[in-house]
Amino acid sequence: MYSIAVLPGDGIGPEITVQALKVLNAVSRRFNRVFNFAEAPVGGAAYDLTGHPLPPETLDLCRKSHAILLGAVGGPKWDNLPAHLRPEAGALLPLRKELGLFANLRPARVFPALVDASTLKPEVVEGLDLLVVRELTGGLYFGQKYRETLPGGTVKVVDTLEYTTPEIERITRMAFELARKRRRKVSSVDKANVLESSRLWREVVTAVAKDYPDVELDHMYVDNCAMQLVKSPKQFDVLLTENMFGDILSDQASMLSGSLGMLASASIGGKIGLYEPSHGSAPKYAGQQRANPIATILSAAMMLRYSLDLEAEADAVERAVTMALDAGYRTADIMEPGKIQVDTVQMGDRIAEQVAAGA
Ligand code: IPM
Ligand code: MG
Repeated sequence: MYSIAVLPGDGIGPEITVQALKVLNAVSRRFNRVFNFAEAPVGGAAYDLTGHPLPPETLDLCRKSHAILLGAVGGPKWDNLPAHLRPEAGALLPLRKELGLFANLRPARVFPALVDASTLKPEVVEGLDLLVVRELTGGLYFGQKYRETLPGGTVKVVDTLEYTTPEIERITRMAFELARKRRRKVSSVDKANVLESSRLWREVVTAVAKDYPDVELDHMYVDNCAMQLVKSPKQFDVLLTENMFGDILSDQASMLSGSLGMLASASIGGKIGLYEPSHGSAPKYAGQQRANPIATILSAAMMLRYSLDLEAEADAVERAVTMALDAGYRTADIMEPGKIQVDTVQMGDRIAEQVAAGA
């Protein structure tokens, strides 16, 4: 039996999470697995209910589970709360930190059926398969920060970008281990021509790489990487980078695959993994059943693979997504002429049916 904490969160979070649960239930029936889902509030929804975006009960439930499936958090309604009560800074970041989830994996793949959905030319993205490995519990997100008003009224702010050698080392090892299961190439992204933190990053990555002589390593400045990602993205296999650069580059990488609604993510490194789509809560689409549930469904597949060790089940979910797309079903974000437009629920249904049918 596998216990899974389900945190639907805000905006489109609840509606996409339900679709992932539907697909997991189809997996459960077909493969005879017992998933025990326990739901808890997080983000703005939790703030409204309890006065805090990450109630202790929610964190307890997460710690007791085998894995966590999260929808999305945040929305304009909670944007003006003090930082520690905002859904992002008060729930998502502490959840990552508390559970030791230092590695965020974001695979950007182009499904053959979606080659034309990308804004880039088909020949640029066809066959693309890269993995962003983003450091998730350090850097600017967690460094000291403050705001002060100087005499005369000038406001001064400080955000600090901190890293230590062990923090860089463990994420680098993770990237190299993952590269060994792929095309054996790591591109480490930094800004070593300007930032001291990037200089240390490059030193540590270079040193760790000596333990992986079978994996090719190159270093790239982040501005160049942003350019290369749209120029020739197929040169990348594993893209290793610090927290903030990874946040930005992974959104960019997602568009190569047609839509941010396709980008799954796994946050691992601690005892319990957290799985969530890379996109946000899209408040303006909330409740309309318009959102693409595929990023969340693919995140559930990553959960099966990385936290529950259910490889065949994970493959089945990924194949089911491919088959639903091959059959022509598209949510609004990836819709093209001649395809069949479906809503969030229908896309979930089509994918769950494929799992049931033996995808
Ligand atoms: C992401 C998101 C979060 C981040 C936000 C919601 C805090 O953009 O997971 O990429 O910046 O890490
Ligand atoms: Mg982001």
